[in-house]
Amino acid sequence: MNRATRWVEERIPVDPESLRKPLREPLPVHMKTWIFCLGGTPAILFCVLVATGILLTFYYVPSPTLAYASVSNITFKVRMGWLVRGIHRGASQLMIVAVLLHMIRVFFTRAYRKPRELNWVLGVALFMITLTFAFTGYSLVYDQLSYWATIVGTNMIAVLPVIGKPLLYMLRGGPNVNPNTLSRFYDFHIVVLPAMMALFIVAHLGLVRLHSVAPLPDDPRRETYPFFPDHVLREAIVGLLLLIGLLNYVMFFPPTIGALATPGITPGHIRPEWYFFPTYRWLKMTSLAVGIGGSIVYVTGLFLWPFIDAMLERIAPRRNLWLIIGTAFYMMTIVFMVWEAIVG
Ligand code: HEM
Repeated sequence: MNRATRWVEERIPVDPESLRKPLREPLPVHMKTWIFCLGGTPAILFCVLVATGILLTFYYVPSPTLAYASVSNITFKVRMGWLVRGIHRGASQLMIVAVLLHMIRVFFTRAYRKPRELNWVLGVALFMITLTFAFTGYSLVYDQLSYWATIVGTNMIAVLPVIGKPLLYMLRGGPNVNPNTLSRFYDFHIVVLPAMMALFIVAHLGLVRLHSVAPLPDDPRRETYPFFPDHVLREAIVGLLLLIGLLNYVMFFPPTIGALATPGITPGHIRPEWYFFPTYRWLKMTSLAVGIGGSIVYVTGLFLWPFIDAMLERIAPRRNLWLIIGTAFYMMTIVFMVWEAIVG
């Protein structure tokens, strides 16, 4: 043992073998296919978002009078500011795509069933945190669309039963959108949500480790491969390809900014980002109360899905009700999204 290793071991008395053991965790071979190891992608993107987000805070000013000018400054004046902002925005969009794909693969392989129900619940919480990240981030730009999206989005919260009004007041810092609102959204975006996401990711991965990755139904293969270095390298390649893709995207489509927010003038066409299209279409089709009620039922159903599936299995075994209901909901979500994208 060389002197440097001994020096470290004397000061940090941890048995190196206990550190190596979790790295050698065997994974089933189906995890070599990219769609099955998609869980690592949001984790990589979260790191990219934290790194670029920290750089953006050096120049962003969370004040209604200065926010817009500071985003313009980052986009058009600060050296490489456009690149950092572009990667941050692109990674946030990719994060939503990656979480959705990961969720779809977990759903259709039924990897959420006993004993992994709680990990599904943690996963849905991570999905909600991802969407809240996107919503609060969008509102920080303080251009017309982001300002009015904040008003419309927070208005919807008021309709929630019992907690709606206090929650709205807490988020806005008053009954209406006012100068406090931006700093609250900023706090959520850079402190509360990152801390929650980091905590939930650790708990989520901890549970994956404790249970091991779920075997694929009807897969006769029993071979495994080690987490380190094989799986880590695979994830690193995915991360590298994502970064190359993001860099190219930002080079060809650098970030821009809309007109400055004008509180008295509502833009003709307020539209949320694509990932809120299904909810937006649904709300347009119904009254606000029915729309919000339906959305609450949808989200609650998503959280409780492993338990609903187990109940359906007991009521009608071999009917594959989980597949019929799940496919119907996924199709409905896609139809609403495409509908809103085309009709607007
Ligand atoms: C930030 C978001 C998320 C991260 C970083 C993440 C990460 C991961 C990772 C690394 C795994 C190991 C297997 C794999 O790579 O696919 C995994 C498994 C799992 N995830 Fe996620 N996940 C996230 C969101 C979600 C969501 C939205 C759901 C579902 C609603 C979910 C449910 C599950 C379940 C049930 C497993 C166990 C699956 C199995 O054992 O095959 N996760 N997650």
